[in-house]
Amino acid sequence: MRMMPDRAKAARDLLAFYAEAGVDMAVGEEANDFLAPPEKPAVPAPISSAPPRPSAIRTVAAQLDLGAASARSNPAPLPPDTAIMAAREAARSAATMEELRAILESFEGCALRSTATQLVFADGNPKARVMFVGEGPGYEEDKQGLPFVGRSGKLLDQMLKAIGLDRTQVYIANIVPWRPPGNRTPTPQEAAICLPFVLRQIALCDPDILVCLGGPSAQTLLNVKEGIMKLRGRWFAFNSGAREIRAMPTLHPAYLLRTPLAKRNAWRDFLAIKKALTAQA
Ligand code: URA
Repeated sequence: MRMMPDRAKAARDLLAFYAEAGVDMAVGEEANDFLAPPEKPAVPAPISSAPPRPSAIRTVAAQLDLGAASARSNPAPLPPDTAIMAAREAARSAATMEELRAILESFEGCALRSTATQLVFADGNPKARVMFVGEGPGYEEDKQGLPFVGRSGKLLDQMLKAIGLDRTQVYIANIVPWRPPGNRTPTPQEAAICLPFVLRQIALCDPDILVCLGGPSAQTLLNVKEGIMKLRGRWFAFNSGAREIRAMPTLHPAYLLRTPLAKRNAWRDFLAIKKALTAQA
C-alpha cells in the first residue's frame, strides 16, 4: 500500500529547519536572492572613477530624501554605486554622533532598512578608548534598538568584565545598523553601502583601539580577505580618519557560544587588548 505523504509534517520539518538556521521572518511572497546583482537600476547610474561632482551628490541626496523624514513608504532601490556615493557624502556631513544617527534614520540607500524594525545605531560611551564593531543586529537588537543585547551581547559583557570594562567604557556598533532578514550575514553590497557610516562613527569616537568582532567586520573594516582564524589576535594599523590607531580582529561572541573551546583564543585576544589599553594609558 502506498503511503500518502504527510505534507503538514513535511512543512513543519521545513519550518523547524529554517528556524534552526536563524530564519524567523518572511520578507515577501517570493524567495529573494540577496547576493544577486540588482536587476535594473531604478535610475541611470553615472558611475565613473572621477570624484563625484557636487551637483551629482545633490541629485543623489534628493533621491534619498536625506535630512528629512521620508513621505514615501517604498522608494525604488538605488543602484549600489549611487547608494555608496550618497552614503559617503551623507556620512561625511555629520559633525557629531547625534547628527550621524539622524542622517542614518532617514537614509534610504540600504534595503535592509525596509525589513528591519528600527535602526540599531550604537551603545556605550561615544568617547570610549576602545570601540567594538560587530556584523549586524540580530532579533533582540532589532527589537530593542541596541547592539549586542541578545545572547552574544551577554557573553560580550562577560568578556568585557573579565578585563575590567563595562559598557560605560566602550563604544559598540555594527557594520550594518539594520538587522539582515533571518540574521543572515550582510551581503558585500550592503556592507559597502553602510561602511561610510561606521567609518564616520569610528572617526567621531576616535578610540585608541578598534576591535572587529568576527570575520565580516574584520574583512570589511580592514579590507582583508583572510578568514577570522588567520586574522584574530593580530594587530593592524587602522586609519581612523583622525589618526592611525591599532585594530584587532577577534572571534565573534556568537561563534564562541557555538564553539566554547574557542573561548581560550578570544581570552588571549582580550588580554592583549587590555594590555594595549594599559600601555597607552
Ligand atoms: N551580532 C552582531 O554582530 N551584532 C549585534 O549587535 C548582535 C549580534
